[in-house]
Amino acid sequence: LPDLADAVGSPNLLTDPDVVAGYCVDWTGRFHGGAAAVVRPASTDEVAAVVAACRRHGLALVPQGGNTGLVGGSVPGEGAVVLATTRLTAPADVDAAGGQATVRAGTTVAALHAAATAAGWDYGVDFAARDSATVGGTIATNAGGVRVLRHGDTRAQVLGVEAVLGDGSVVSHLGGLLKDNTGYHLPSLLCGSEGTLGVVTAARVRLVAAAPARAVALLGFAAMEDAVTAALALHRDLPVLDAAELMTGAGIDLVCRVLDLAPPFAARHAAVLLVEAAATGDPTAVLAEAVSGVEGVVDAAVATDGPRRAALWRYRESHTEAINHLGPPHKLDVTLPSAALAPFLAEVPAVVRRVVPGADVWLFGHAADGNIHVNVTGVAPDDEAADDAVLDLVAAHGGSISAEHGIGRAKVRWLHLNRSAAEIAAFRAIKRALDPDGILNPGVLLPEG
Ligand code: FAD
Ligand code: MLT
Ligand code: ZN
Repeated sequence: LPDLADAVGSPNLLTDPDVVAGYCVDWTGRFHGGAAAVVRPASTDEVAAVVAACRRHGLALVPQGGNTGLVGGSVPGEGAVVLATTRLTAPADVDAAGGQATVRAGTTVAALHAAATAAGWDYGVDFAARDSATVGGTIATNAGGVRVLRHGDTRAQVLGVEAVLGDGSVVSHLGGLLKDNTGYHLPSLLCGSEGTLGVVTAARVRLVAAAPARAVALLGFAAMEDAVTAALALHRDLPVLDAAELMTGAGIDLVCRVLDLAPPFAARHAAVLLVEAAATGDPTAVLAEAVSGVEGVVDAAVATDGPRRAALWRYRESHTEAINHLGPPHKLDVTLPSAALAPFLAEVPAVVRRVVPGADVWLFGHAADGNIHVNVTGVAPDDEAADDAVLDLVAAHGGSISAEHGIGRAKVRWLHLNRSAAEIAAFRAIKRALDPDGILNPGVLLPEG
C-alpha cells in the first residue's frame, strides 16, 4: 500500500471496503470480486509506477474504465488492485483539418462525440453506454455498437495508442499517420486485449464525416426471418444506412412494461427493425424509397426530428436496462454468418429451453452485421447450461462466441470453440512477452495455466 500511495498520492489510493466494493461488481450484477485497493492515477507516469509496484509485490492489476463491460472483464479477483482510469481525462485534442483526435483513456465516448461534433466531425463508434463507457475500455474490448455496418468497430478507428505494458514499459505512437507500415501494429493488438497486455492511457483516433440530417424508421414484421432479410437488403441497397437494429415483439413489450412507455404500434409484431439513415442532406426520401422495396413490412413509424428519433431509439437502447430488471442475465453476444442468422434465431429459444425449461430468451442486436445478443434470464448466475447450449449452437453455425463484448471472465471456457490450440498458444506467447509476470487481468480472456 505505501508503494501504491507513492505512485498515485494517498488521496488516490482507496482502501475503505465500502468504497472499494463499488468497483467489485459488474454492470449486470452477475460477476463479483474483492479488490484489496483501488488506485486512480492521473498520468501515464503514474500508471507506470502502479504497474511497477504491482510487479514488485506480485499483485494482480485490473484496469477499469466505466465498468459497463458485459463479460465480467473489469471485475477484480480477490486481493487484486483496480486501476480506475477516472482521472486519465482531458479535453480531446481535435485536429479539425486532419479529422483526427488524441484522447485520453478515461474520456467517455459521449465526450469524444461532443468534441468531434464541435469540430464539424463525428466519431464512428456509438452505443447506449456512451455516457459512462471510456475510450480506454472501448479499445480494450474493441467495442462495436450500432454503427459498425458503416464505420467499422473500434479497431477501425484507432490509428495509434499510448499504453503501459505489463512489463512496465511505455509505448506511445500517437502521430496519426494514415499510412505507416513500420512493423507490428500494436494498436490492433491492444484492441480487444481486455486489459491483459497493457493499460491504455491515450489514443489517436480517426473521425468520420458528420451526417447531421437523420431519419429513423421502426418497421414491424410478422416473421423474424423477414426482418433479417430486410436488414441485410437495406445494408446492401442504402449507402446512407447508419444502423439496422433488430428486436422482438416480446423485447419491446418488456421495455414498455419496465420503462412505462406506450407501445410503438397499435398491433404487436413478432419482429421489429429500427433503421436509421444519416447524410448531410435530408435522407427521409431515400430511406422511404429503400423501405418501399423491402418485403414483409406490415407496419411503420418514421421520425425525423431529434426528440421523436430519440423516442424510437429508446425502444432499442433500453433493452439492456429492461432485461437487467429481471435479475442478472446471461449475456451471449454472438455473430453468425448472414445465411445462418435467421435459422439460428429460430432455433435458439428451444435449444435453451431444452436445458433450462423455465428460462426466458431475449433476442436483439445489430442484425445487419450478423451480431445478435442472446440474453437468458431466469437462470442462476453460476448455472452455465444455457451458455453452453447457445455457444455450441453458434459454433455449429460457424459463428463467433463474442461479436463485440469480448471474452472476459464469462466466456473463457468456450474460447476453444473459435480459436485453435495453435492460436491460443500464440496468444499465450504474446501475453508472456508483454506481461512476463502475468499481473494484468489474470483469469480474463485466456484460460489460466
Ligand atoms: P470497463 O467495463 O471498465 O472494462 C472493460 C474491459 O476493458 C475490462 O477487461 C477492463 O479491464 C478493460 N479496460 C478498461 N479500461 C482499460 C484501459 N484503459 N486499458 C486497458 N484495459 C482497459 N458494447 C459494445 O461493443 N457494443 C454495444 O452496443 C454496447 N452497448 C452497451 C449498452 C449498455 C447499456 C451497456 C451497459 C454496455 C454496452 N456495451 C456495448 C458494453 C460496454 O459498454 C463496452 O464493452 C465498453 O467498451 C466498455 O467500456 P468501459 O470503459 O465501461 O470498460
Ligand atoms: C446492445 O447492443 O444493446 C449492447 O451490446 C448491450 C447488450 O448486449 O445488452
Ligand atoms: Zn450490442
